[in-house]
Amino acid sequence: MTAVAALGARPIRSARADIRGTADGGAVVETDDYMLEFDGAAGSLIVQLAGRLDGGDTVQDLAAAAACDPSLIAEVIKTLQVHGAVFDLAAVDNRSGGELRAALRQECAFWAKEIQAHSFWRTLLSGAANPETVFGWGIEQFHYVEAANEYMAAAAANCRLDHGVRMRIGKRFAEEAEHGDIFLRGLERCGFAHEAVVDAPPLPATNALKDYLFELACSDTIATEATFNLMQSSSEPLTKEGLARFYGELTRVYPFAGPMFQAFHDHALIDVEAGHERTIFDDLCDAPGLVTSVVGRRAVDAVRGLAEHFILFFDNIETYYGARDAIVPRRAVDMDAFTR
Ligand SMILES: [Fe+2]
Repeated sequence: MTAVAALGARPIRSARADIRGTADGGAVVETDDYMLEFDGAAGSLIVQLAGRLDGGDTVQDLAAAAACDPSLIAEVIKTLQVHGAVFDLAAVDNRSGGELRAALRQECAFWAKEIQAHSFWRTLLSGAANPETVFGWGIEQFHYVEAANEYMAAAAANCRLDHGVRMRIGKRFAEEAEHGDIFLRGLERCGFAHEAVVDAPPLPATNALKDYLFELACSDTIATEATFNLMQSSSEPLTKEGLARFYGELTRVYPFAGPMFQAFHDHALIDVEAGHERTIFDDLCDAPGLVTSVVGRRAVDAVRGLAEHFILFFDNIETYYGARDAIVPRRAVDMDAFTR
């Protein structure tokens, strides 16, 4: 029997998947990893529905829109899903406890890949990024890592669960508290004055990301913890060798930023050694009756919101620092200059 998606599945198309029609009425779905070809009814259906695969419609809705047999859509969607060209946003619906944990892990892996598929990364890894973008990314990343001093502290202070959980949240904050300094030292070794980086106003999307995490930490302990599942998620398992390769390559193409990449590398190694793969949220899912389907909904929404903020973070870095007249570091407002 051919595997099919459920009629209630809500497929969202990956930004990595390019869908186009062919001259003979079929369709081609292409990502960096593979190329799928569809002909006949399946091909024309894919082209017809490509614009609606945004997670808003169920398979049933799509069948009604295309006036076709739902089982045909279900079969096509399953094929796309197996190859990672679409993801089912309904997979986390009405789940609780360990089931939610497993489903949310899958969804976090999807969003991690979407974030990594951003054109910022493509440009950076190709060696075509300008120095302003390379250093601008470093400065915005510093602001984000430094923000742990606010949102992780707020998560501990506002923890609404028991003492043991609060202590774990506090311990994580203590481990992360100094990490911004690692980035700062790397930027200093590239010639940037300490104050110039610290005082540089973060880009609007960096501030939005920081504010999002802070607000959540003040208001919803379990949803906050769920967002760490996305922060810990990467499309490939992180290893010492993988990190050395990644930063070695960036240093080779942008030698002027070598000390900054060394700092990024040092930081990534600390986090790998800390072994944060199993999160506090994962453990909360085992507590009887705690992560109900209603609470799970809030956790899912929090993760999706964070994924969106990360994507906007890279959008903003790309557009601001990629512009011809970008100033790096951004200049702080100097009140004295207006009163002299
Ligand atoms: Fe860290």
